[in-house]
Amino acid sequence: MSALPSPPAGNEPAGEAVAEPAAHVSRIWGGRFEAGPAAIMEAINVSIDFDIRLIEQDVAASKAHAAMLAHQGIIPQADADAIHGGLDAVLAEARSGRLPLSRALEDVHMNVEGRLAALIGEPAGRLHTARSRNDQVATDFRLWVRDALDTLDGAAKALQAALIEQAQEHVATIMPGFTHLQAAQPVTFGHHLLAYVEMLGRDRGRFADARRRLNECPLGAAALAGTSFPIDRRATATALGFERPCANSLDAVSDRDFALEFLSACAIAAVHLSRLGEEIVIWTCERFGFLRLSDSFSTGSSIMPQKRNPDAAELIRAKAGRIIGALSGLLIVIKGLPLAYAKDMQEDKEPVFEAFDTLMLCLAAMAGMIATATVNAARMRAAAADGFPDATDLADWLVRVKGMPFRRAHHVAGSAVKAAETAGCPLAGLPLAVLQAIDPALDDSVFAVLGVEASVASRASEGGTAPERVAAAVVEARRRFLG
Ligand code: ARG
Repeated sequence: MSALPSPPAGNEPAGEAVAEPAAHVSRIWGGRFEAGPAAIMEAINVSIDFDIRLIEQDVAASKAHAAMLAHQGIIPQADADAIHGGLDAVLAEARSGRLPLSRALEDVHMNVEGRLAALIGEPAGRLHTARSRNDQVATDFRLWVRDALDTLDGAAKALQAALIEQAQEHVATIMPGFTHLQAAQPVTFGHHLLAYVEMLGRDRGRFADARRRLNECPLGAAALAGTSFPIDRRATATALGFERPCANSLDAVSDRDFALEFLSACAIAAVHLSRLGEEIVIWTCERFGFLRLSDSFSTGSSIMPQKRNPDAAELIRAKAGRIIGALSGLLIVIKGLPLAYAKDMQEDKEPVFEAFDTLMLCLAAMAGMIATATVNAARMRAAAADGFPDATDLADWLVRVKGMPFRRAHHVAGSAVKAAETAGCPLAGLPLAVLQAIDPALDDSVFAVLGVEASVASRASEGGTAPERVAAAVVEARRRFLG
């Protein structure tokens, strides 16, 4: 007696399936499926279409495994040599696009082994001694993610270099600094760019953390419980550049933290890039006009000849969605999975590949945009003077020079702003008599701190926006990130 509940009757197409026995699956599963059950099974099971990207790592791990097996006397050295040569040949075929791939062989692991058997015959059959596809895929994928982290680090560094280069050029270029997207206090453009250099520095720190934690080798955990063969897990771990073998065989085949950490580091980096993308959209719009993208990073409109659209910045802003989606997708796949391996885990690769490709593209496009953009310093400077950005300087001066409590100084500065607004002039344009009517503590020497240049120059505290600080920060940033 079957313990399975019978399928709900409503799943059968009306008036057909019962009359005709299930000679063809499409009658049962609906007309949408043309293929029979075996073909549909293959279609859902197959992963070679995407996990072929693991081939370099698969071959490297197999070579390390075969060498260890021979060294331990588990397989003959001659077979290990044949396997070694054969794997090189398989890889050469793959690199030149000549490797025949079979969907019937499911994944990269079986395709490599199948091709190896075709090339070298019987010794190929000894390669899978003392391992399983479960520890194999976990090893290959860790190696792939490790390489990806290194590549991303390089790309993030290249973007930092582009930002630092522009920052150096603009240590003293004044622009409005915003809070709530309202003019707040003037800052320098170099200072603003260096904020992104810091974000990317933390992104690179997260890549490095993830790399450190993933660098343990699952190989030798076999299916889930370890193996009865006298393998040397330290030897394979070392040969593949891992710090040590994973300590627990169940954890080794079921852990995908490395992929999740990779994706979360990518997601945070993508969020950073989306913020810069948004700022570029704002800076390049004609109302701001702070920045002009080079022709090579601008797009035209099919109908409006005057347009120069920042499509790349907008796409970078948008693509964070994909990368965040990849992270949430994989978290949901792994959530609630019992130990050890389950085929659900095959769903781990596509989000990681997609996030990597997307982030690499975004980093490169952003670096290109930043390196080739031109700043309109006059527009920035003019905008920086709008909205009384030196009101805080006036208040600070009353506190610093006149010993006034800050709350009262804030109030006095507010009255000065109101007077300037009425007069239609900047704070520095108010006659002394007007200022003194507001508060007798205001004297002539206050004019030294008013105006955007004075305001920016005065913010020389550590980490502040004063040009001398920013110039030093550029030097520091080069040392910390580009050395
Ligand atoms: N293609 C599989 C994956 O990516 C390899 C592991 C298959 N293991 C198994 N027990 N079916 O997860």
